[in-house]
Amino acid sequence: MGETTPTNAMHRNVLVIGASRGLGAAIVETYVSRGAHVIGTERSDGPSRLRDVAARSGGLAEIEQVDITRPEEISALRSRLSGRTFDLLFVVAGISLAAQDEIGADIDTHAFERMMVTNVLGVMRAVEGLQDLVTPEGTIAVMSSGQGSISGNNSGGFEVYRATKSALNQMFRSFAVRHRDDRRALLLLAPGWVRTGLGGPNAALEIGDSIPPLIDTVDAQRGVPGLRFLDRHGQTIPW
Ligand SMILES: NC(=O)c1ccc[n+]([C@@H]2O[C@H](COP(=O)([O-])OP(=O)(O)OC[C@H]3O[C@@H](n4cnc5c(N)ncnc54)[C@H](OP(=O)(O)O)[C@@H]3O)[C@@H](O)[C@H]2O)c1
Repeated sequence: MGETTPTNAMHRNVLVIGASRGLGAAIVETYVSRGAHVIGTERSDGPSRLRDVAARSGGLAEIEQVDITRPEEISALRSRLSGRTFDLLFVVAGISLAAQDEIGADIDTHAFERMMVTNVLGVMRAVEGLQDLVTPEGTIAVMSSGQGSISGNNSGGFEVYRATKSALNQMFRSFAVRHRDDRRALLLLAPGWVRTGLGGPNAALEIGDSIPPLIDTVDAQRGVPGLRFLDRHGQTIPW
C-alpha cells in the first residue's frame, strides 16, 4: 500500500485476530509498511494473503493460528504468546452468512447461531482471553460496523448481521464498564462498506480507501482512555 509515514503516536507492537485476508490482512500490511511489528492470526495454514504479506515483511510480520469460536484455541494462543506484550490488540474476525437475512422470511437457525457465536461470543472471548497481553496504556480495538448502530438503522436489511454488531457493541460496552479504571483506549470501529469477501463486489470502497484512514484513527486514539464507537475518519457513530 506504499505507506511510509510512522508517527510518534503509532502503535508499534500489534496483534491482529482474523487476518488471513480482507481487512485484517490489510491492517497487518499497513502497520508493517509503517514499521510496526505485527502478529496476524489465521484459522488454517494454507496459502493466504497474510502469508504473502509476512513473506515480504522482512520479519516484521509473524503468523499465528486461532479460530475464535474454539475457546481452547484462544487459551492455547494466549499461552504461546506468554512473555509478549502488545500496544494494540485488534480483533477483526467476523462473518456474514446470509446477505438478505430478514426475520420472518428464511433465516436459517444454524446460520443465525454461527453469526452470533463468531461475531459476538467469539470476538468477546478473544478480547477477554488476550486483553492481559495489552500494555496498561495500550489499545483494544474491535471491528464493528456502522450497521451495528441501532439509532442509525433507517434503511433496514442485513438484519442478523446488524444484530450481531449491535450485540457486539453492547458486550464491548459491558467490558468497558468492568474496566472503567483502565487507562487503555477501547475502540469499536466501522471501516465503511468495503470490497472484500464479506463486503462483496458492489461495496463503495476499496480496501485502500478504508484501512489507511482507519489505522490513522486507531493510532490517534492511543493513550486516550475509555470507550468510543468511531468511523474510519474518527467521527463518533451514535449507538
Ligand atoms: N467489508 C465490509 O464492508 C465491512 C464493513 C463493516 C465491518 N466489517 C467487518 O470487518 C471485519 C473483517 O471483514 P472483511 O470484510 O475483511 O471480511 P472477509 O474478507 O470475509 O475476512 C474475514 C476474516 O475473518 C476471519 N474469520 C472468520 N471467522 C473466523 C473465526 N471463527 N476465527 C478466526 N477468524 C475468523 C476470516 O478467516 P478465514 O480466511 O479463515 O475465513 C477472515 O480472515 C468483520 O468483522 C466484518 O464484519 C466489514
